[in-house]
Parts: sequence; C-alpha cells; structure tokens
Amino acid sequence: MSDLLAQIEEIEGAALGQVQASADLDALRDLEVATLGRKGSLTSVLRGLKDLSPDDRRAAGQRSNDLKRKLQEAIDRRRAALEEAEVQASLEKDRLDPTQPGPPRAYGHPHPILAMQRELAQLFESMGFTVMDGPEVETEYYNFEALNIPSWHPARDMQDTFWLKGGGVLRTHTSGMQIRAMQERGAPLRVVALGRVFRNEDQDASHEHTFHQIEGLVVDEGISVAHLKGVLDAMLQGVFGEPVTSRLRPSYFPFVEPGLELDFECRICKGKGCPTCKGTGWVEMCGCGMVHPNVLKAGGIDSERYTGFAFGLGIDRLTMMRYAVPDIRLFMSGDLRFLEQFHTG
Ligand code: DAH
Repeated sequence: MSDLLAQIEEIEGAALGQVQASADLDALRDLEVATLGRKGSLTSVLRGLKDLSPDDRRAAGQRSNDLKRKLQEAIDRRRAALEEAEVQASLEKDRLDPTQPGPPRAYGHPHPILAMQRELAQLFESMGFTVMDGPEVETEYYNFEALNIPSWHPARDMQDTFWLKGGGVLRTHTSGMQIRAMQERGAPLRVVALGRVFRNEDQDASHEHTFHQIEGLVVDEGISVAHLKGVLDAMLQGVFGEPVTSRLRPSYFPFVEPGLELDFECRICKGKGCPTCKGTGWVEMCGCGMVHPNVLKAGGIDSERYTGFAFGLGIDRLTMMRYAVPDIRLFMSGDLRFLEQFHTG
C-alpha cells in the first residue's frame, strides 16, 4: 500500500511540474501519453490497485483518481495556454496594419501631342470655334480636288501621298476638313479640326510619316487678313503664355488667295539670329490665307457674299518649339524615358 502511495506522490510531484514546463503542444501531448495514456505511469499504478485490500484500495483509488483529475485539468489548462500563445505568435508574424497606406499607384498621362491638341482645342473653343473631327482615310476629292488642286496640278507634288488601292488616300493634311465643314455647317462658320496626317516622307529629325495638324477656318461677311492675324497671334500667346511678335509673308497654296505664311520671332534669340532660326530671327509657323473662291464654291458657299480665312499647322513642330524637343521621331518612339518627362500629375 505505502508503495503505491509513494508512487502516486512521486508521479504527482514530477508530472505537475512537467506540465508547466512543457514548451509546446507536442511535448505536452507526450507527457499526457506518458502519464495518463494506456501505458502511462499513473495508469499502471491504477492497475496495481486490484492487489490491495478493499480499504487500501479505496484510499489509494481515491488518491489516484484525484491526481488523475488534477493532472488532466493541468494539462488542459496548459494546452489552452500553449494554443493561445501559438495563435498570438502567428498573428505577430503576419502582422497586418489596415491603416497603412497602400503602395503608390502609377497613373498614366496624356501623350505630349495629345495634351497639345487638347490645349489648342480649348483655346479655339474659347474664341467661339467649333472643334470638328474627320476621317484619316480621305477621298482624293476632299484631300485635293475640292481644294483647288486638280490631278494635273504641280502642287500635288508638294505632298508625298500614300495612295490606297481603289483611289482613296491617307489624308496628307487636315485642309480637306475645310470642305467638309462648309458642306456640313454652311456660313457663317468658325471651326478647327485636329488630328493625324500622313506623308510618304524620308524620315529625319524634322520629318515623320505620321504627324499632326490643326486646321482653322472662318467664313463670314467681311472677313479679312486682319482677322486672320488676330486669331493666329491669340493662338501664339495662348501656346507660349505671353504676346509673341509675328509677321505674315507671301506664299503659295492653291486653296487660298492670297496665300501667306506666318512666322514668329525666334524665342531663343529674340530675333537676333541663332541656329534654331537658321540665323533669320524668325521661325515659320503655318500656312494660311484668304479662302479661294473655288474652295468656297466647292463647300457650297456664296463666294460673292462671304469671305474667309484658313490656316493649317503642324502640332508636332509647335510642341517641339515649346519644349525644345530636338527630334520629331521621339514622339512616335514609344520611349518612356522621353514621354515620362511630360508627366505633370
Ligand atoms: N495644308 C497645308 C499643308 O499641309 C497647310 C495650309 C496652308 C493650310 C494654307 C491652310 C492654308 O489652311 O490656308 O502644307
């Protein structure tokens, strides 16, 4: 009897301490098996009860059952504590802070040519112009004939044209929109059209096969070159942010009479002469003039009652001048190192 009690006490003394000392769930599980399991130390003690006298058996039975219960409770408590600690540790490891700002998001931005087109459109809208859109695949009629350039006219050679099978062309300029505008809207009229144009050019730093133009057309009673100059000067001021000195000089385009060219004072040397303006002090900006009566007629407008002016210019060149871009091919290069310099957002 005393043997058994001694064993029980020994188990109690050791096991309860071991429960607290178990560092993890596996160790605790092992301990549980080693004491309360089928072959565990306390279980084998209980097996020895049958050899005792009934009184001793009761006393020792009671004692060992108490211990069994105490041990089981201690193990359960320790297990709950270890499990809780494990959850805490994993929360600590994968810590998530929902108040932290997310990683910065990369936003795109308009291409510099598109940004310039939008700016020009807005500028002309503020002067009462309507912005029109038109086809890039154009008929020979709108691109040439209606603009007073019949098929035999040498002016056709001024533009290296992409001809399409079946007679269409990739529009070589936006001037065809003059005819479409007059036919669609009639006089009086104030429109601009912006977009891509195409020429079969040998490419270099100032020539691209695909580039962009803005065309302007005003038709009304009593329109003169003074109106033309006023509108173009307003455009220059809008683009460069301050008044810009300009001049008109005679030129030739079949769809205007007189035909003119507008130059503005070189912004690098202020008119003194430098490599940018090839020493002249002036930079060519656009072709323009008073709309030829044949063109008004092709647009269905009474050329006795109405006069008009028109102008057309390259948006790529304008953008190059504003930002001092040295090579027109950069615009179509897709080179992000170039394009991202225009990220303003
Ligand atoms: N379409 C001409 C070109 O691409 C530019 C031009 C000249 C447009 C005179 C006009 C104009 O409207 O009046 O070379």
